[in-house]
Amino acid sequence: MSFTRPTDPYESVLNLRVVRKYLPQPVSAGDAAAILEAGRWTGSAKNRQDWAFLIVDDPDQQAQLAGCGQFSQPLRDAGLVIVPVRLPGGYEFDIGRVAQNMMLAAVTRGVGSCPVTLHDEGCAAEVLRLPPDHQARYALCFGYPDDDAELEQRASRSMSGRKPLDRLIVRNRY
Ligand SMILES: Cc1cc2nc3c(=O)[nH]c(=O)nc-3n(C[C@H](O)[C@H](O)[C@H](O)COP(=O)(O)O)c2cc1C
Repeated sequence: MSFTRPTDPYESVLNLRVVRKYLPQPVSAGDAAAILEAGRWTGSAKNRQDWAFLIVDDPDQQAQLAGCGQFSQPLRDAGLVIVPVRLPGGYEFDIGRVAQNMMLAAVTRGVGSCPVTLHDEGCAAEVLRLPPDHQARYALCFGYPDDDAELEQRASRSMSGRKPLDRLIVRNRY
């Protein structure tokens, strides 16, 4: 079996699931460019675009970065890692939007993705040689899904699905 490659935007949003198991091959230049372009066109507060897209595609550097997170194996295995760096004054909300746009662009091209938290931000800053006041809290892993390995891992995952809407919606006042 293989994962679907949605073309309808609403379907893409509803079906976006993380992929942590990748085939051992780099992400093509065309797919990488499309993912980066989706990040570039993300809206931001006051259109400030206070971000940089740090591409990590050197396996040694990927392994070093993996040492900065607690659940970071996908960083080692990914065909491409993009760290959306928050520049001084930028908003974490905007970085989240960049991440989601990149991941949605990826899935429409058959590229799986997983955000990974860099729990030790000092470690990430050192590995990535970040200038002062620049923040790298999350890294985005991309790669072509290894369908069998991914399905196997999903079957063993304890948490899946989403809360029902009636547990999420609050009207007028909390
Ligand atoms: C902010 C954020 C941080 C995450 N950090 C990690 C991480 O460090 N390691 C990991 O394997 N997955 C990480 N994930 C992926 C989540 O575990 C995943 O989105 C969640 O379990 C839902 O998965 P699903 O969309 O496949 O159902 C992160 C996701 C988000 C949004």
